[in-house]
Amino acid sequence: MLRATLLVLLLALASPARADDSADFGERLAACAACHGQHGEGVRGAEYYPHLAGKPAGYLFEQLKGFRDGRRASTSMTWYVRFADDAFLQRIAQWYAELPPRTRGADTGAAELTAERRRVAQNLVEHGDPARDLPACSSCHGANLAGLEPGVPALLGLPADYVIAQFGAWREGVRNGAPPDCMHDIAGRIAADDMRAIAVYLSQQSNVDGLRPAPAASFLPPRACGSLPHAQVAK
Ligand code: HEC
Ligand code: HEC
Repeated sequence: MLRATLLVLLLALASPARADDSADFGERLAACAACHGQHGEGVRGAEYYPHLAGKPAGYLFEQLKGFRDGRRASTSMTWYVRFADDAFLQRIAQWYAELPPRTRGADTGAAELTAERRRVAQNLVEHGDPARDLPACSSCHGANLAGLEPGVPALLGLPADYVIAQFGAWREGVRNGAPPDCMHDIAGRIAADDMRAIAVYLSQQSNVDGLRPAPAASFLPPRACGSLPHAQVAK
């Protein structure tokens, strides 16, 4: 009896004919859930995997194309997208962008921050450093760090190791944004110990309020990036 019920349940799950097309599409992304969580929230315990839920669709689309076309390197990711066409990647991006912005990776920063290092990190995030020509992270990622449509992702709830690895990748030219690649420029202006402090500080900022990226052009970043419409940047 129990086995019969299980069989019916399994058949229902596997059935291709479903009224709700988007639920079907979610099932097609089951392979992604192993590393990014069933709701795109990231996976706790394997801290390196970033969340995808609620990030701007334009941003996610660019990253997926980047893995496919070799502008961004990751053996785990390239395998999944190497044969995908733009239309399919766009659909994946849209699907994750519409999910509630959950971030399970928050608070995974293993290292403790001293009060002094925390102050340094928060100051760089909120104010930057004019002496290094370093704009505040919040001037592009938003005062609440929730991101900006269409191309700037949130900095809330990202695993510290992931952020550190991304800065390394920008510096070494392994992660390349559309030109002008402003994150490559920014990564070159931050010393390694400040970077570490920033990454741990950011990993401790979780998105408890479920904040979404700010609407396009709702504030003007201080300089142009390839993934931001240049008309939407302060002159
Ligand atoms: C084996 C684990 C694994 C699987 C499965 C996987 N990913 Fe990833 N994904 C990663 C890792 C690791 C990264 C971070 C790569 C890096 O270091 O830049 C990543 C990064 C990403 C990013 C960039 C996130 C950001 O904020 O920039 C997107 C988008 C993404 N994955 C989508 C997907 C999709 C869609 C699938 C399914 C088709 C998938 N991933 C399957 C491990 C995985
Ligand atoms: C001039 C605008 C600008 C400033 C200032 C800026 N960023 Fe970014 N950031 C971006 C854009 C645009 C992207 C998307 C990059 C891409 O599409 O390749 C991004 C992406 C990122 C990502 C990748 C997130 C992910 O999910 O993979 C991280 C991490 C990041 N920025 C951290 C920072 C930090 C930390 C600072 C401050 C020290 C900062 N950024 C300052 C524009 C900016």
